Amino acid sequence: MRRYVSIAKEFTGAKAGLGLRRGLIPDFRELQTGDIDFFEVAPENWIGLGGRFGRQFNELAERFPVSLHGLSLNIGGFAPLDWDLLGNIRDFIRRYDCALYSEHLTACADEAQLYDLMPIPFTQEAVVHVAERVRQVQDFLEQEILLENASYYTPLATELSEAEFIAAVLTEADCGLLLDVNNIHVNSINHGYDASEFLNALPLERVGYMHIAGHYVEAEDLRVDTHGSDVIEPVWHLLDLAYQRCGPVPTLLERDFNYPPMVSLLSEINRIRQAQTKALGLCSADARSVDARRGA
Ligand SMILES: [Fe+2]
Repeated sequence: MRRYVSIAKEFTGAKAGLGLRRGLIPDFRELQTGDIDFFEVAPENWIGLGGRFGRQFNELAERFPVSLHGLSLNIGGFAPLDWDLLGNIRDFIRRYDCALYSEHLTACADEAQLYDLMPIPFTQEAVVHVAERVRQVQDFLEQEILLENASYYTPLATELSEAEFIAAVLTEADCGLLLDVNNIHVNSINHGYDASEFLNALPLERVGYMHIAGHYVEAEDLRVDTHGSDVIEPVWHLLDLAYQRCGPVPTLLERDFNYPPMVSLLSEINRIRQAQTKALGLCSADARSVDARRGA
């Protein structure tokens, strides 16, 4: 029995969303109901924002559900948790009735912000440390949070495998998993493992939300998790595998720069929906009825 609920009751199943970046606001304002099912923001970028951006955010939040993906909680770090930030996030969640709050399973600060997401050593000691911080956050927010499997370039310690580490933190903390399939692909190339085997080793019963994104090919054996290009076929394939294992869950298309026309982003949103429809065991001809049930 999970102690807290992580996700708003209605925010489950086949849904596809897009990250709201300031550069995309004009396009978002043109969206029709049903083009996307939700949008995701980093709360740090929007808390306390007034003026034109604040008004535009309020208008969009009236039209679409909002999910939160934090940037600076530093759940894996050693600096004290930022209770002022968490208080602001709690207020933001309540004000906008946010569907969920997720963070990165990383460290991003010491005595000051590092402005990067650093890996945590895959050790039992780190499991205990991180899980205790997650429990404190969940008790403060009175809701379960979801942690994202991170992309990383150099493991700090490998007493546990990455999948064992993630599973141990989630179990010890009793929190949810934000499954990022692009991060699995990027890591599988950079660290030389099989992506589907890694996926199957994760505690998939805890997945409540997914991310999919494009990345940059730096070299044959080096991928960089940029969110600046289209999703590639092996990553779409991983999404299919994940849906086969977990069933469809709300899934975000991450695109942080190098924006294509909105019609291209919406075609990737539709591909997420097709994958969700396929996973539901419906043929593509029935996709319209799924959309109708989704309320699109
Ligand atoms: Fe992600």
